[in-house]
Amino acid sequence: MTSKGAITLEEVRFAWASRASFGFTVPQLYVAPGERVLLLGASGSGKSTLLSLICGTALAQSGRVEISGTALAGLSGARRDRLRAEEIGVVFQQFNLLPFASVRDNILLPLRFAPRRRARVADPRAEVSRLCGALDLPEGIATQKADALSVGQQQRVAVARALIGQPPILIADEPTSALDETTQGRFLDLLFDQVAAQGTTLLMVSHDPRLAPRFDRVLRMDEIARVERPAA
Ligand SMILES: Nc1ncnc2c1ncn2[C@@H]1O[C@H](COP(=O)(O)OP(=O)(O)O)[C@@H](O)[C@H]1O
Ligand SMILES: [Mg+2]
Repeated sequence: MTSKGAITLEEVRFAWASRASFGFTVPQLYVAPGERVLLLGASGSGKSTLLSLICGTALAQSGRVEISGTALAGLSGARRDRLRAEEIGVVFQQFNLLPFASVRDNILLPLRFAPRRRARVADPRAEVSRLCGALDLPEGIATQKADALSVGQQQRVAVARALIGQPPILIADEPTSALDETTQGRFLDLLFDQVAAQGTTLLMVSHDPRLAPRFDRVLRMDEIARVERPAA
């Protein structure tokens, strides 16, 4: 009953503040530490919105969002940012790499905001090399600028950045949507190897049900969230 989940949502209500706003209620969502969960849903069903609530970049109007046992609602913005940096590695749909920074600086970036993650990395350069090697990135890529990379390489750099310092939770928002099927399979193999090696909790969002067999559990947006579209 009181076991500490990696991600827990209870009776969460959220709506974007804009005109024509989208909102939903999530009665319950629980992801156990080490679990690998796929969240499926059509485009526009609120998947990225839900990830924003989990990351604490958007705040629920009511209900409870907990990350590694800590409720987000009671925290200041700065404490929420710190909790996210320490606990969650994020792979954004568009990767969000800093284009003019080197691959190494991109990968090391999260450590600046997360002292406990930083403390797990004894030798930052060596750890960047190790992660790049494990993710099949070519030798010497660390000093290249991020905007010189192919899409597939950017994606793997984004994963290395999310994994550095072993955050307990990895969240990935449609990370394979820009890849062809062969590249996608290889990418997921590498990602899952790293997740298994670090015992990371994985929550991946996709609209592609073919990914399901790789995961411990599949959640569907239309089963976990009640969408509310206010009358125009
Ligand atoms: N920052 C935002 N401000 C206002 N509305 C938003 C914002 N982000 C998303 N929405 C709206 O929320 C709905 C769900 O979007 P999203 O969570 O991105 O869905 P998905 O990731 O499943 O495609 C859409 O109608 C979208 O227009
Ligand atoms: Mg989305």
